Amino acid sequence: TVKIDLSKPGIPVSSTLYGLMTEEINYSYDGGLYAELVRNRIFRDDEKTAVHWSLVQDVDGTASIALDTGYPVAGTALTTSLRLDAAQASTGHRVGVANDGYWGIPIKPDTSYRASFYARTAGAGGVPITVSLEGSDGKTVYAQAIGGKINGEWKQYTVTLKTGTDIKPTAASRLVLSTESPGTVWFNLVSLFPPTYKDRPNGNRIDLMQKLVDMKPAFLRFPGGNYLEGDTVATRFKWKETLGPLNQRPGHPGTWKYRSSDGMGLLEFLEWTEDMGAEPVLAVFAGYALKGETIPAGPALQPFVDEALEEIEYVMGDVNTRWGAQRARDGHPAPFKLRYVEIGNEDGFDKQKTYDGRYTQFHDAIKARYPQLKLISTVNGKDDLGQRQLLTSRVPDLIDEHYYYDPLAMMNDAKRYDTYSRSGPKIFIGEWAAREGAPTTNLISALADAAWMTGMERNADIIEMSCYAPLLVNVNPGGMQWRSNLIGYDAQTSYGSPSYHVQKMFQTYLGEVSLPLVAENIPTQTWQPKAKKDQPVPAARQVPGLFFSATTSEQRGEIYLKVVNAIGTPQMVKIDLAGPIRVAPQGKAISLRSDAPGDTNTIDAPNRIVPVSSAAHGLGSQFDYSFAPYSVTVLVLSRT
Ligand code: AHR
Repeated sequence: TVKIDLSKPGIPVSSTLYGLMTEEINYSYDGGLYAELVRNRIFRDDEKTAVHWSLVQDVDGTASIALDTGYPVAGTALTTSLRLDAAQASTGHRVGVANDGYWGIPIKPDTSYRASFYARTAGAGGVPITVSLEGSDGKTVYAQAIGGKINGEWKQYTVTLKTGTDIKPTAASRLVLSTESPGTVWFNLVSLFPPTYKDRPNGNRIDLMQKLVDMKPAFLRFPGGNYLEGDTVATRFKWKETLGPLNQRPGHPGTWKYRSSDGMGLLEFLEWTEDMGAEPVLAVFAGYALKGETIPAGPALQPFVDEALEEIEYVMGDVNTRWGAQRARDGHPAPFKLRYVEIGNEDGFDKQKTYDGRYTQFHDAIKARYPQLKLISTVNGKDDLGQRQLLTSRVPDLIDEHYYYDPLAMMNDAKRYDTYSRSGPKIFIGEWAAREGAPTTNLISALADAAWMTGMERNADIIEMSCYAPLLVNVNPGGMQWRSNLIGYDAQTSYGSPSYHVQKMFQTYLGEVSLPLVAENIPTQTWQPKAKKDQPVPAARQVPGLFFSATTSEQRGEIYLKVVNAIGTPQMVKIDLAGPIRVAPQGKAISLRSDAPGDTNTIDAPNRIVPVSSAAHGLGSQFDYSFAPYSVTVLVLSRT
């Protein structure tokens, strides 16, 4: 039985309850959302070899390619180039270089691609370069154009490649720059862009952006996660090195075992946020790097505090400020709306326990200049979470808490906030997920996610924000570093996991007020927690099998009753809405379900588990409703 008391005022739901979290992990940007198709475009991914590049010579010959640091492009960050020795090229015998992209290059019919590259020759000989999109074996040419005649010193060349209408989409393809004239040519910053979301020149992949926009996120937390911190202070996310033209961006080693191009720089994060109609949650580097390096509070930390202040100014300063003017020069004169700044990431892992002092220094400096900003701590002020350190010197506006559990543990934890202290700062659940299934999570994880989100909605008085993590994964072999993710893709297509659809359902059907709800006689299922290393196997636990939340929207005249049935049999629930508001007999049910908890969506079966909408009858102030096995349902009730 579920009783909802409509005579009580309920609690306001934060308009920022559901957002997104992102970082460079699982080839989220390079090889993912960021639409660049050339991999290793400035030849810095490996110091010794031109990885992802190969020599093309149509007849046996002595042509060669090699990395060359002898010819940096003056005034840029382009220090390493690719030298092509093509002495034997002749008419009908081309010699060139090929890039295999991020697990292929997506070739689509009737599509224009913008290719660009820097090139130089040894002397002013004039070497014509042809740019082609072709099959991996070189046999099929999908699009081709003359890229320019390379003559002496470094120059940038740009060309449009247009595919025909009759080709079949494929990713078994490569980009080739070649010549039939003998000579030596150096290349740098070789780039290829397909059409992008909102036609941004340095923009994002359309299908992935659409999936994110469809989630209607209130905010985007960036740039991490671990990616913010770097393995070392030197390899943190240095936002200043991610600004301006691509030839000014050296890239940097990421924290997830591959180098980042930084094509997704600070401004691109902000524009991505803007394109989703969301607001930024800016995380600033706070003096702690993943491998344990810390910069304790005091003079040594001050340059990093100053850098954070400058970063904030870049985001929200007007064009009369130094960094606001820089943003305008970079192409975005209008300041971005910024309300939330997070100080660091997971600083509870700092074994030196320096966060209290570091947070204080950032807090005081930011609040002094921007008192309106809400500051987020990554460490709690109390020890009820078993944190390794406490924050006691300052009271942050929000605390960022992270939870990654297996599905039944997540369900077991769905009541976490029901009894949580109401006296501290508001909560930002900045990373969380039920983790079963790879590369994207399965149905039981989606049910557990939904169960946990009912807890967020019931406790909307303390939970101001939340965002699932990680968001994106390239499903190709080697693409995944973290096993449970929300949205999967390869070069050509993408899909949402069942968890993705749950996120969308919860955000789409969210009222402004959370209604008081009492659930009785809830069936349970048995959960056997895993033993910790060298510990005895813990006792089995009974975990609830049904979960509920209810919100209402005055504006839309609707009540959204969310019900999760995590059990493999249908569950009949008696729903009792007490109070002055009447409910129409007709409504709507949006339901996501499948037969087995391990069922999932994949790149080849992207729509196996998706929400289905149907008319619901026999509703009212009191009604019985049968919830399907392994399902998440939103009942949309119309207030009359
Ligand atoms: O989401 C993956 C990682 O989990 C994040 O980078 C980090 O903040 C957390 O430990």
